[in-house]
Amino acid sequence: MWSCITDFFTYETTKSVVVKSWTIGIINRVVQLLIITYFIGWVFLYEKAYQVRDTAIESSVMTKVKGFGVYNDKVLDVADYVTPTQGASVFCIITKLITTENQVQGYCPETEKKYACTQDSDCTKYLNKPGGYGILTGKCVPFNATLKKCQIRGWCPAEIDTIETTPMMEVENFTIFIKNSIRFPSFNYTKGNFLPTITGDYIKTCNFDMVKHIYCPIFRVGDVVRYAQQNFTTLAQKGGVIGIKISWMCDLDKSDDQCNPSYSFTRLDAMSQKNAVSPGYNFRFAKYYKMENGTDYRTLVKAYAIRFDVLVNGNAGKFNMIPTLINMVAAFTSVGVGTVLCDIILLNFLKGAEQYKAKKFEEVSDSPVECKTNGLYLSQLSLRHNETIMRSSDSGAFSIEHYS
Ligand SMILES: *[C@@H]1O[C@H](CO)[C@@H](O)[C@H](O)[C@H]1NC(C)=O
Repeated sequence: MWSCITDFFTYETTKSVVVKSWTIGIINRVVQLLIITYFIGWVFLYEKAYQVRDTAIESSVMTKVKGFGVYNDKVLDVADYVTPTQGASVFCIITKLITTENQVQGYCPETEKKYACTQDSDCTKYLNKPGGYGILTGKCVPFNATLKKCQIRGWCPAEIDTIETTPMMEVENFTIFIKNSIRFPSFNYTKGNFLPTITGDYIKTCNFDMVKHIYCPIFRVGDVVRYAQQNFTTLAQKGGVIGIKISWMCDLDKSDDQCNPSYSFTRLDAMSQKNAVSPGYNFRFAKYYKMENGTDYRTLVKAYAIRFDVLVNGNAGKFNMIPTLINMVAAFTSVGVGTVLCDIILLNFLKGAEQYKAKKFEEVSDSPVECKTNGLYLSQLSLRHNETIMRSSDSGAFSIEHYS
């Protein structure tokens, strides 16, 4: 029993073989240096492995558009061209309108080309099916002096959306004001995109610029479109979606004024640029009125718009003991990985590999004798040394001279 206890309270250490060879020595140190450089340079300094990160950014975005445009001889203001009007992070600026006024419920001819007809039998195949603008009745009725079209039941007269109109070019000079507040919950850190250095007078006059005014929260639509590498005229003609990205990459170990937003711009509906089937972005809405006799009538609007999506992302890091320790342990352990490579080279490719092998691996005899105590085998089995040891010190480290 007692011997069991004494056998347990022992310490085992590994015996090392020191190889004095320039080749393997240099390889070993170079590999170690590479591993240390990688950990210090990339893992610690660049990736900041000594920090804990908070990626769950909380954010609120408020927007406001300003500017006046002229369309069809009417001056349009914000309430006319911005939808939805709440000033959220997603909003549309209407650039082109196709309006159909005074629509009432009733019967009228279709306007789409494919519903052209000469007699009722041309239209019966569409009977009770949804047409372009209403439910088809199966009758063929005159559209204008020369043309006949199938009749629909719905809001009449039906919209004609093939008319060419020029977009409201003043949109290019409209400005978007963006107010963004963010919070990193795990550090309870809050910040907004108006930096403390920005004054009220500056905000009244500035326009965002990638070079000179990178923290100005007011963006000219034309500039945003240009930064997203788009042509304003085509975008206004067909509509589209532009992303305004606000990114917050904060190192909270540094001073507070180093945590700043950075803005970037992209076209989000890149697919509709290449695809001819559904290019751009448009939608319809209607304004309803009541006549004196109580029947409803409406103005239908087909709107082509540039939609802006304000997207906020970011993360913050701060020094913390736990990731620092874990990564330091990983770094120290990884330095040992170099020995695997050196062993492969040493035992296979180097001159005198056989000799090194003999020194590194010692044969174990299959009849343990000396260390057997009370029927218990010790973990240090008896070893039989086949090779003559050139030089060995009492510390248990062999030295093999191989300087050539
Ligand atoms: C936008 O503003 C500039 C300068 O104020 C002016 O020269 C230009 O004509 C304006 N563009 C449109 C489309 O109104």
